[in-house]
Amino acid sequence: MLRGRGVECGVLDGLVAEVRAGRSRVLVVGGEPGIGKTALLGYAADVAQDFRVARAGGVESEMELPFAALHQLCGRMLGRLGGLPGPQRDALGVAFGLGAGSAPDRFLVGLAVLGLLSEAAAGRPLLCLVDDAQWLDQASAQALAFVARRLETRMPGRCWPRCCPGGWMSGSGTGSSPSPAATRWPCSSCRTG
Ligand SMILES: Nc1ncnc2c1ncn2[C@@H]1O[C@H](COP(=O)(O)OP(=O)(O)O)[C@@H](O)[C@H]1O
Ligand SMILES: [Mg+2]
Repeated sequence: MLRGRGVECGVLDGLVAEVRAGRSRVLVVGGEPGIGKTALLGYAADVAQDFRVARAGGVESEMELPFAALHQLCGRMLGRLGGLPGPQRDALGVAFGLGAGSAPDRFLVGLAVLGLLSEAAAGRPLLCLVDDAQWLDQASAQALAFVARRLETRMPGRCWPRCCPGGWMSGSGTGSSPSPAATRWPCSSCRTG
C-alpha cells in the first residue's frame, strides 16, 4: 500500500479483482509530475501478479520514432504474429522493422495490434500499463486509440484505455462480459483525460 493512497489503491484492488473475474476495465490516471502516477501503475502490477502484464512508456526522445511505444507494448507478443491475417502481419512487421516495405497502412497496424492483444488475453488476464502517455509517438497513440475503440464497442471481455496525458492502464479479463465501462479516477488530486 502506498502511503496516503488508500483510496486509490482500493480502486486498483477492485479493478484488478474485476478483471480477474472476467470483466474488462479501463482506468486513466492523470496529474502533475511527481504526484505518484508511476507509483500507482507499479502498485497495480504488484496486485496483478497472476496476470500477463504488457508495459510501455512514452519517451520524449522517441516521440518522432513511429511505433516505438507500440513496439514496447507488443514486443513479447511478436511470437503470435504468425497467427494474424497476412496483410496485418505484414503491416505490423514493417512497422516493427521485421520486414521491408513502405510506411504501413495504419488501419492494418491497428487491426494487427487488436488481434495480438486479444490473443494474449485469451488464456490469462492481461494488464496493459502505459506510462507517460503525453510522450507517446503519434503512430503508437493512434494505433492504441484505434484498438481502444474497437475493443470497447465490439469485443466484450476486452478493453483498452483512452490515451491521455499521464498514464493509463487497462485490464482485460478472459471471460465474456457486458461491454466494458471505462473506470475513471475521481480522485481530486488527479485529473482524467
Ligand atoms: N504514496 C506515496 N508515498 C510515498 N512516496 C511516493 C508515493 N507515491 C509516489 N511516491 C514517490 O514520489 C516520487 C514521484 O512519484 P512518481 O510515481 O514517479 O510520480 P509521477 O509518475 O506522477 O511523476 C517517486 O520517488 C515515488 O517513489
Ligand atoms: Mg511518472
